[in-house]
Amino acid sequence: MSTPDDPPAVSWTTRRKQAEEQCAALLLRPDEEVAGEVVRLANDPKWEVRKVVAESMAAFPEKVFRELSILFASERNALVAAAFERSLARRSPVADIAPAHADLLQGEVAKITHKFGPDAADAALKFAERCTFLHIRSAGHDLKNILSYLKLDPDALIKEPANAKHKSKIQRYKNGRDYLHRLSEMMEVYSSPLDIRMQPEDLVEMAFEAITAAREQVEKGGVDSTSVACDVEAPESVIVPVSRYHIAMALTNLVKNGIQAYALPDSKFGEGRVLIRIIKDAECVTITVADGGCGVAPGDLQNLVQFIPGGTAKRGGSGYGLPICRRYLQAHGGQIWLESTKNKGMTVTVTIPCNTCDAVL
Ligand SMILES: Nc1ncnc2c1ncn2[C@@H]1O[C@H](COP(=O)(O)OP(=O)(O)O)[C@@H](O)[C@H]1O
Ligand SMILES: [Mg+2]
Repeated sequence: MSTPDDPPAVSWTTRRKQAEEQCAALLLRPDEEVAGEVVRLANDPKWEVRKVVAESMAAFPEKVFRELSILFASERNALVAAAFERSLARRSPVADIAPAHADLLQGEVAKITHKFGPDAADAALKFAERCTFLHIRSAGHDLKNILSYLKLDPDALIKEPANAKHKSKIQRYKNGRDYLHRLSEMMEVYSSPLDIRMQPEDLVEMAFEAITAAREQVEKGGVDSTSVACDVEAPESVIVPVSRYHIAMALTNLVKNGIQAYALPDSKFGEGRVLIRIIKDAECVTITVADGGCGVAPGDLQNLVQFIPGGTAKRGGSGYGLPICRRYLQAHGGQIWLESTKNKGMTVTVTIPCNTCDAVL
């Protein structure tokens, strides 16, 4: 029923026109407001409106493209679904990534050669190549694992969509698809250039915010993690210059790991505690995030401290959380250490220099 506060209803032809305009605008001005409008129109009840968005999305920024892909993956109208498929096929897999900066890399090699000589530059190149192989191999291994988990017989599903025995397969497919999304998001976060903007921030306040953010992420699927208490032991405030986004993400990842260390089967959590301690001295701030959860075996710890992303994950994680933490801390001139005993817990110690002007940015 309409109320006086309802926005005036516009006809679907007007909404289709709006969709055309907003999609064109998003290509010229890729900001949140236009993106929000496009996503709203992609949810329109009229298929003619949705089809305009599905047809135009191939060149949209990655974040919107991903959001729309999830939406259109369950599209029921055949014409909209076909438009979406065409956009998927048109989109370059690396649409957002600039072509490899060969000149830039050459420039780096030239700088090393100039400063340390050709042998050092050669060794640095070999080392970089080995790191690249390790990272690609680990990412390839993770993707292959997910794809084999996703092995389904699509013909059987198409022929007998209502067959009850397909239900668990469809659920498995959805889990795998969500996992792939999480993994690709973390891969992107890990490998994106760092935009570090230092400002004085209160790390104590950020620790409390990290607890809230970590809980929100852990509880996303409607699970309850309140049996795991999260506390902060620190002076009233500890103010140092940091890049808020990066340190917030690092702390959130650590608290999230601490809470998840108490995970039980069936999305439940045991009783436990994650404690963040913050101590500041003249030179640096030391933050420890300690839990008494499942911990890891010595062999697993050895792998984790290599900080090679992927491959280390258990229970649906991505294995990118700790490598991202280390990358962000190193960008502040900081460090990270892990200690753990199987079934006793883990303590992660992080340092951030107080004078981050010296940081390697
Ligand atoms: N506090 C912790 N206690 C027990 N295991 C942990 C803890 N932190 C990390 N791990 C183990 O290390 C793996 C990798 O962690 P991380 O790099 O954060 O990626 P993710 O959490 O996405 O898997 C986790 O899957 C988990 O097995
Ligand atoms: Mg993690």
